[in-house]
Amino acid sequence: QELQLNLEQIEKGGYEHFMLKEIHEQPNAISDTYRGRMLADKGIIRMAGVDDNMERIANAKRIIIVACGTSWHAGLVAEYIFEDIARIPVEVEYASEFRYRNPVITENDVVIAISQSGETADTMAAIKLAKEKGAFAFGVCNVVGSSISRETHAGAYTHAGPEIGVASTKAFTTQITVLTLMALKLGKFKGTISQSDFQFHLQEMERIPEKVKEALKSDKLIQEVAFKYKDAPNCLYLGRGYNFPVALEGALKLKEISYIHAEGYPAAEMKHGPIALIDEQMPVVVIATKKGHYEKVVSNIQEIKSRKGKIIAVVTKGDEEVRELADYVIEVPETIESLTPLLTTIPLQLLSYHIAVMLGKNVDQPRNLAKSVTVE
Ligand code: AGP
Repeated sequence: QELQLNLEQIEKGGYEHFMLKEIHEQPNAISDTYRGRMLADKGIIRMAGVDDNMERIANAKRIIIVACGTSWHAGLVAEYIFEDIARIPVEVEYASEFRYRNPVITENDVVIAISQSGETADTMAAIKLAKEKGAFAFGVCNVVGSSISRETHAGAYTHAGPEIGVASTKAFTTQITVLTLMALKLGKFKGTISQSDFQFHLQEMERIPEKVKEALKSDKLIQEVAFKYKDAPNCLYLGRGYNFPVALEGALKLKEISYIHAEGYPAAEMKHGPIALIDEQMPVVVIATKKGHYEKVVSNIQEIKSRKGKIIAVVTKGDEEVRELADYVIEVPETIESLTPLLTTIPLQLLSYHIAVMLGKNVDQPRNLAKSVTVE
């Protein structure tokens, strides 16, 4: 028993929980994921699974992404990246819905399965179905040799290392990293991204681990925010564009480990319903980085403020405008729009972590949840 405890202590590497350790591992996990694949100074990305099947993937009429939970959120971020950079139409599907819907799939489709564990039953079934219909199946998994990685025609691993906490953190950011590299590679091959833009993306990607470290420094401030709102029964998360999926992911993190009801929405959808929920009791976490629809999100923040909602804003370092309006402002370093999710997600992970700890919840093993969902 004692030995078991000590072993766990060692595995946690001095952190109180696996989740916190895994949040802090993200700078390394992200660089481990692009290292050996990306040569920023030479403008090269090597990914065997993509290189070996370049024609098939680049000529796809459509990419269908299938996944569940956090991996589905990474798929939503990828939708923006693939369409933006590689100009390939993308659909993102819950694997559980896709598999039972008699979906239209052709041999010209590429189906990407995203799964940390590589064992999620619904994602596995979706891939089998896609293969039966003749589509090319590509896996983005973290666990090497997992069922989904074996079932797919090709793939690219995230090199996040073992993720023990049930709430996924470093798997999410490394999935986005792999999918970004893939989109850049396809874009370069297809000529849908200029050489200088391509180069710039690689250089910026190389700066991300340092910027994640910088974002992690807001921990103290986030603890303050957590203390202030830990007893709220509900919480709204808003984001736009690349950061809309980050809002969904922030809400999922809060729900699963603190059991506080949370909803993520595209900021502009607020006026189509959720705005009715806003009063002086409601904390609203808004991602309002400078790149991407900034002014529009600022006007959403004004609408929340005029209804007395409490605003916790995630902003680009140095932002003054939102500071005037928000109750709390959490800064992240500046980067290009497509890479902002790798930074904006960090404070949201920490916020849910600290709230759950303050509420005395079992952060690493929340009730009713399993790390890999191998039944449907
Ligand atoms: C996220 O924090 C979850 N616990 C859950 O949503 C998870 O992402 C989902 O079950 C998918 O798992 P996978 O990536 O292993 O397929």
